[in-house]
Parts: sequence; structure tokens; C-alpha cells
Amino acid sequence: MLPLSPIQLLESELYTKKKLQVWVKRDELIHPLISGNKWRKLQYNLEAFKQLGKKHLLSFGGAFSNHLLALAAAAQKHQIKATIIIRGDGYDDHNPTLRLAREMGLNLVFIDRANYKKREDPAFQQQLMDQYQADFLLPEGGTNAWALKGCRTLVDEITFQLSAEPDFICVAAGTGGTSAGILEQTKQTKVLVFPALKGDFMEKAIRNISKTKLPTFQCFNQYHFGGYAKFKPELIQFINQFHQAHNILLDPVYTGKMFFGLEDLIQQDYFPEGSSIVAIHTGGLQGNLGFNYRFGNLIPSPEL
Ligand SMILES: Cc1ncc(COP(=O)(O)O)c(C=O)c1O
Repeated sequence: MLPLSPIQLLESELYTKKKLQVWVKRDELIHPLISGNKWRKLQYNLEAFKQLGKKHLLSFGGAFSNHLLALAAAAQKHQIKATIIIRGDGYDDHNPTLRLAREMGLNLVFIDRANYKKREDPAFQQQLMDQYQADFLLPEGGTNAWALKGCRTLVDEITFQLSAEPDFICVAAGTGGTSAGILEQTKQTKVLVFPALKGDFMEKAIRNISKTKLPTFQCFNQYHFGGYAKFKPELIQFINQFHQAHNILLDPVYTGKMFFGLEDLIQQDYFPEGSSIVAIHTGGLQGNLGFNYRFGNLIPSPEL
């Protein structure tokens, strides 16, 4: 068991003026590579892997993905044999995510985009499992029932740390697994979801992931900045300003968009005076290195 990740009250004139308490649950500090929701999702999966006596884990991920590097680090730490099927053109030594993952011993297998689209097809999954002699499948983004169990612990930690459930929890969404886990565990809190992808499918996706009837929640589908991993100068400016103001790094794919959306909702008086809001820092900072590699040094990045 690791110590709890810190929960930090943010100071800002805006929040004081609006009479809001804005906290950040700093899951990005859990581990430099197995950070944020990746750690929450992997924790019980790795436990299950060991308890079930499995030998070889197979998963899917994008070439710059947080899941890929978190899996590499976790597999190395726990001495687990793991293969990841990657959407992309092949190995690129300048891509820091791939380079670090390879250094840590993760087996990288590249497939083309058309085949990668079949990643949720059970027959295709079985074919890959047979081909690589794997016996434990972890879906893309690490989202499955064990992952949700790990994400549920977030709510318990927050409630313990604040001695009460907050009025609101804000979380970024990709597959929706983290949000689903949080929603399974909240009682009073209203959960606000900020999808990193374009479209209005996220609410349904989150409800489909969970096996239970989830409470009402709200998805804000207007903060994707053009779509997954897309960005605009306002987002870059926001990430830099946030870093200067709070000394907290954000990533441009998930947490940057979520905090931008939160700030915008605060400006628009979405939250009643006196509300307590917890924004989950779901990590993803390794991605800043890859982002700066592709687009120039636009944002601050961690030292890995
Ligand atoms: C840093 C970060 N935040 C949030 C998310 C979204 O999590 P989920 O896929 O569970 O919705 C991800 C990705 O999967 C992520 O890497």
C-alpha cells in the first residue's frame, strides 16, 4: 500500500471572489511513470495477474500513450512479462514514450491503423493472445473491472482527506473508465466529466463500462480543443499560466483540458457559492515530453 496522494487547496483570487474551495487530488505525484489514473487502474490488475498465476500480459496503446509507459514501468517493477500492441508506423527512437518503454523491457508490437481498430473484437484479441502466447488481456487504456475498483479508491481517499465528500469532483475522460469508477463510489458528490475527445458519446460510454446503475452526472463536451490530442494556443497558454500560478504541471491531452474547462465554468458562475470542488490530477505528464518533441517546446515537462 502506498501513502495517499496529497490533496491540495488551490489559492486564486478568482476562487476567493467566487467563494469556492478548489482542491487538486494530486495523483500525478504517485509515481513519475505509473502515475494518476494509470496507477489506480493497474494496481488491482497486477494483483489479479499474480493471484491467478498468469504469465504474460497483453495490452493495447497509442505510441505516445500514458498507458504504454505506465505498463512498461509497472511490468518492470513487478517483473511481469508484457507485450503491448501499438497503433503506429513502427519504432521511433526520438519518441520518448517508446524509447523509455523499450528500455524498461516492454515488448512493443506495431500494427497498422486498420487492424488496430479491431482491438475490441474478441476474435482478434484471441488471435493476438495465441500469437504472442499471452494469458492475461488488459484492454486499451487499462479499463476493465479491476481498473474501476482501483478508481473507486479515489473517492474513499478524498472523503477521508476532507472528512466529507466534496460537492463536486471533476475528472478528464478518455475511455470513461476512471469516471465510471468514481461514479460507482460517490454518494452525494456531483461528478463533472471533461472528455478529451470530440463528440457526445461519453455519457453513454461511461454508463456502458459500469455494471451498476450510476447516479446522474454531467459531461462537458465543449473542451476538447478540436479532438483527441488536438490543441489550440489558448490551451498552451493556460497550461503555462497554471504552472506559473500553482507550480503544478498539466498535460495537454487530459488534465490541461479539464482544468481549462473547470476554470471556464467557474468564470461562468456554474458553481454555487460555498461549493467544494475536487479536480483529479490524473497524471499523464510523461506525454509532455512527446508533445514537445512533436510540436516544439511549448509546455513545461517533467524530468524523467
Ligand atoms: C492522464 C490521463 N487522464 C485521464 C485519462 C482518462 O481516463 P479514462 O480512459 O479512464 O477515461 C487518461 C487516459 O486514459 C489519462 O492518461
